[in-house]
Amino acid sequence: MKKILLTGVSGQVGHALQQQLALTAAHGWQVIACDRQQLDLTQPEQIRRVVREVKPDLIINPAAYTAVDKAESEREMAYAINATAPHILAEEAAKLNAALIHFSTDYVYDGTKLSAYVETDSANPVSVYGASKLAGEEAIRQVGLPHLILRTSWVYGSYGNNFLKTIIRLAQAREMLRIVADQHGAPTSAISIAQAVTELVTVWQPESEAQTGVYHLVNAGETSWFGFASEIVTQYQALATVRGWPDLAVKEIQPIATAEYPTPAKRPANSILSTAKLGQHFGVRLPEWSVALNQVMAALSIEAS
Ligand SMILES: NC(=O)c1ccc[n+]([C@@H]2O[C@H](COP(=O)([O-])OP(=O)(O)OC[C@H]3O[C@@H](n4cnc5c(N)ncnc54)[C@H](OP(=O)(O)O)[C@@H]3O)[C@@H](O)[C@H]2O)c1
Repeated sequence: MKKILLTGVSGQVGHALQQQLALTAAHGWQVIACDRQQLDLTQPEQIRRVVREVKPDLIINPAAYTAVDKAESEREMAYAINATAPHILAEEAAKLNAALIHFSTDYVYDGTKLSAYVETDSANPVSVYGASKLAGEEAIRQVGLPHLILRTSWVYGSYGNNFLKTIIRLAQAREMLRIVADQHGAPTSAISIAQAVTELVTVWQPESEAQTGVYHLVNAGETSWFGFASEIVTQYQALATVRGWPDLAVKEIQPIATAEYPTPAKRPANSILSTAKLGQHFGVRLPEWSVALNQVMAALSIEAS
């Protein structure tokens, strides 16, 4: 039976992957899922020991340092988890002739392009987080093992803390929300990512050099954070009565500029990623972001007040 070593199972993507990959047991995969306690990515010796003990055929690494603003003041930690650890995972996988699926981010781009980014566009991160993720990508490429680096964006889901949860909480408490409207991208649900990766696991042929490389993997379509927040509120209100969810306090959502909401880390204005390559190479296509949001909202459990 082939083995998958999965990291970061307490995270949004790791959690969704653990659930989704359980379905591949039927395809003859055994999943060994690790949280931070079982596999701490700041501990190089532990990483090497765990990989050598498990002897996976495939490592899937959604674990990451994802605190974008905090990374500006925790550079070393961000690089240890996002760059050094993937390098070690890739080295150990290569020794076992195993393959690696790793996750990266829209934040490797500077966001100045006027149309959707394609994988051959130059990366030029404008934050420590983005730079640490790019360093992780480069470290994996340098090892040269069969790999997929999946750049995703604006991840949310029913599990974990994310923009969806924040907007619902704020919309329950406040009459007015002010949300950034000049950053554009694709909200991507953890479950859409997990479904796509599960498909990839079954169709990817790691021995094919032509398939190894970077792919954009995001829900279809595009919006702004303002557009995403507005759709969350609309979909919430459509479901609230039948689900018995508490009424929202929010009456108005105001679009604002990034400059009006300063953060320690800079973010790209354009995070729109073309997924044509993923479709062409693997036939894998993700649903429209508003459809994916609807699936997540339908599964959301919200306490009645
Ligand atoms: N979130 C986004 O909006 C976004 C956007 C673009 C790309 N991505 C990328 O997508 C991937 C998945 O992101 P996500 O949203 O699922 O992240 P997440 O919810 O923040 O989860 C991160 C996971 O990494 C684990 N982790 C952190 N430090 C660790 C360490 N030292 N050792 C072992 N595990 C550690 C966390 O464990 P604990 O629970 O113990 O902290 C958690 O399980 C990441 O590669 C991320 O860079 C995310």
